[in-house]
Amino acid sequence: MTELPIHDYYPQASQLVYGCMGLGGSWSDAPVTDKHVAQAQEVIETCLANKINVFDLADIYTFGKAEEVFGKVLKATPSLRKNMLVQTKVGIKLTPAHEVKQYDLSPEWITKALNQSLKRLQSENVDILFLHRPDPLMDLDDTAEALERLHKQGKFSHLAVSNMHAGQIAWLQSAISVPIIANQLQMSLQHADFVEETITTNMKDGCQSGFPRGTLEFCEQQNMQLQAWSPLAQGIYTGNPSENPSLAELATTKLIGQLANRYSSNPNAILLAWLLKHPINIQPVIGTTNLNRIAECSQAHKVNLSRDDWYLLFETARGKQVP
Ligand SMILES: NC(=O)c1ccc[n+]([C@@H]2O[C@H](COP(=O)([O-])OP(=O)(O)OC[C@H]3O[C@@H](n4cnc5c(N)ncnc54)[C@H](OP(=O)(O)O)[C@@H]3O)[C@@H](O)[C@H]2O)c1
Repeated sequence: MTELPIHDYYPQASQLVYGCMGLGGSWSDAPVTDKHVAQAQEVIETCLANKINVFDLADIYTFGKAEEVFGKVLKATPSLRKNMLVQTKVGIKLTPAHEVKQYDLSPEWITKALNQSLKRLQSENVDILFLHRPDPLMDLDDTAEALERLHKQGKFSHLAVSNMHAGQIAWLQSAISVPIIANQLQMSLQHADFVEETITTNMKDGCQSGFPRGTLEFCEQQNMQLQAWSPLAQGIYTGNPSENPSLAELATTKLIGQLANRYSSNPNAILLAWLLKHPINIQPVIGTTNLNRIAECSQAHKVNLSRDDWYLLFETARGKQVP
């Protein structure tokens, strides 16, 4: 296995990232309780015990409460911080806090949002700041200047993006000297557009792929880390089926169970092993709050799916053979 691109900056970074979107209680203005903080502490300790040391947050997760509980855990046990990499994201304004849901990468908003995040995290700095989504109204030079300023102030060490295609990343990078080191996109066996776009060039099928063509290759050429959000597909193949599962979903669930036995592993690890097999070296961002599932996920690196099994999983999930 080749090195993760992120190892150029953080040699100790784990391949699995823990996604904190489920921490902090509900998506409401109900305040954080001791129970939520205890849950976050348990989850963080379980991750570290299972060698998962990268933590993914965003200002919006549970309306700020994910960062708040994370900050409280760090405050209570400061020694945890030196063993982890913390990333957060800014750039989305949600209702009802904002009248109109929107993306905002203006200097005013990213500055305010990052300062608020740091306050909740009770930290001076985050390791990686992600721009959560592209904002069609962004002024490139103004945003770049604000990011340079925040970087010089030491508020974040490295810059990254999410849900952006190659052209958007190159455009942003053209105006800012801080290197963009990662891109986070939705990638899983259920949401396999990143593979579809590879195999459907010049075909009508390919038009339906939402994944931006050339983005994988661009990120690889730039040595940019790809992170996969929702890599467990919300559990649809591993115990949390959709309301009306398709034949493909049912067949995939069955196959994953069989492979778990054959590889002496577990379904969550098989699901992630499918992503890990991709040579671009993806970091899956797992969002389960279940401690057993976190431990199961951490076994994914032990599974080296055969070429046949990788294709069989892909074709079973897509419901038909490759063209
Ligand atoms: N950049 C972006 O735009 C973006 C967007 C979305 C998410 N993210 C990041 O990606 C992370 C993961 O996303 P995600 O949470 O949507 O996806 P996920 O990791 O695919 O799924 C986790 C969710 O599925 C449930 N689940 C998984 N396996 C299950 C099973 N066998 N039985 C029952 N429930 C199961 C989990 O519930 P339990 O907690 O009960 O296990 C949890 O609610 C987030 O935490 C966040 O950090 C980023």
